[in-house]
Amino acid sequence: MTMDRYVITGKQRLEGTIRTSGAKNASLPLMAAAILAEGTTVLQEIPHLTDITSMADVLVSLGCKVTLDHNECSIDTSALNDCIVDETLMRKMRASNLILGPMLARNGRVKISRPGGCAIGTRPMDQHIKGLQELGVTIEERHGYIEARADKMRGGEIYFDIPSVGATENLMMAAVLTEGTTLIRNAAREPEIVDLQNLLNKMGAKIRGAGTHVIRIDGVHKLTSTEHTVIPDRIEAGTHMVAAVMTGGDITVENIIPEHVSPIIAKLHQGGAEVTQNGDSVRVRHNGKFKAVDIKTLVYPGFPTDLQPQFLALLTIADGTSIVTETIFENRFQHVAELRRMGAKITIEGRTAVIHGRPNLEGAFVEATDLRAGAALFLAALAAEDGTVLERIDHIDRGYEDLERKYREIGAKLQRVVKQ
Ligand code: UD1
Repeated sequence: MTMDRYVITGKQRLEGTIRTSGAKNASLPLMAAAILAEGTTVLQEIPHLTDITSMADVLVSLGCKVTLDHNECSIDTSALNDCIVDETLMRKMRASNLILGPMLARNGRVKISRPGGCAIGTRPMDQHIKGLQELGVTIEERHGYIEARADKMRGGEIYFDIPSVGATENLMMAAVLTEGTTLIRNAAREPEIVDLQNLLNKMGAKIRGAGTHVIRIDGVHKLTSTEHTVIPDRIEAGTHMVAAVMTGGDITVENIIPEHVSPIIAKLHQGGAEVTQNGDSVRVRHNGKFKAVDIKTLVYPGFPTDLQPQFLALLTIADGTSIVTETIFENRFQHVAELRRMGAKITIEGRTAVIHGRPNLEGAFVEATDLRAGAALFLAALAAEDGTVLERIDHIDRGYEDLERKYREIGAKLQRVVKQ
């Protein structure tokens, strides 16, 4: 783990074009899905991120051959020979739990260390487990491990109490090679789930309904490897859009699916920013004061929780008072204490933050506590007066490809300081 930090000089107006990388949260399930196909799956536009190398490490530990070259990831699963993911790999990244479904489908057995809580919440696995049991999987939880066996798997009907993204993906992958029909009701509808359906169908699966509340999977006997290009990262794109407003700048974000960022576009409009769409790019311009707006995080197509910290950072310098309500994770306000160090006026009451906009933020020593909190502080530092030292940017490296290069090219003044 690197303990690098950014030293950022604020108040630079950002102007120019920035290209969004492939989506981290789509890449991770697509990589796990490679387990399902015989042969070599080739994925394009996979971003260079530590979360991606963690998933590659998990696949390698199971016997797969993984190569990452530029933004192409090849996964050869012909030598798959293990079914246990150890604690260290699991602790590096929760999303390793996405191998549960595909391993059960391909191998009939899997054992993973139970993921713990993380900085933003306790994050249980009950929906994943309940869904798998519905398909006939036996699950035992012992000594901090989840051990699952698929001796009598068959199609089934699953109803999620919460539309969990990971559980929806895991169940799609578990059911795809299972005899009979599986219905997932109250499924999550995120674009990353549609991308997973597209890859699996290219491999020969019969899945319909991703992007709606009901997904139907008709089991097939075999999947064949294929090539696929991952969708652009809507959270990264949204972060750049907020950067344009916070720096009074003019940024064109390329490689974007505008529909995927519609809640962000709506909120930026509401606050007075100028947003124009042109094919697969979106231009965001702003000068003057951004008006306070309220946001509430919801499952897609609501406002994404993964952009709540960045948007909250913007609201600290908006004109007026805003209310931000976090409904997805119970503890996702860790960026607030750090933003206060930069002069932000925020009070928290349970899952609600009240933000009193101020004319300016001030540079300070701050620390990223998780990925998106890190992004929020990064944006705050770009907008703040004077310099900011942002510690623990290993969190940011998990989810933003080439951040320094991309931001230097549009006029940011920042430096990565490598800690020995
Ligand atoms: C995914 C994203 C993450 C994003 C989140 C919500 C990836 C790799 N990560 O995470 O960036 O913040 O969606 O959009 O795609 N829950 C349960 N029981 C379960 C599963 C989830 O109670 O079995 C709860 C969680 O604690 C959380 C909520 O449901 O409060 C949403 O979680 P979920 O949609 O599962 O998020 P992830 O798939 O982990």
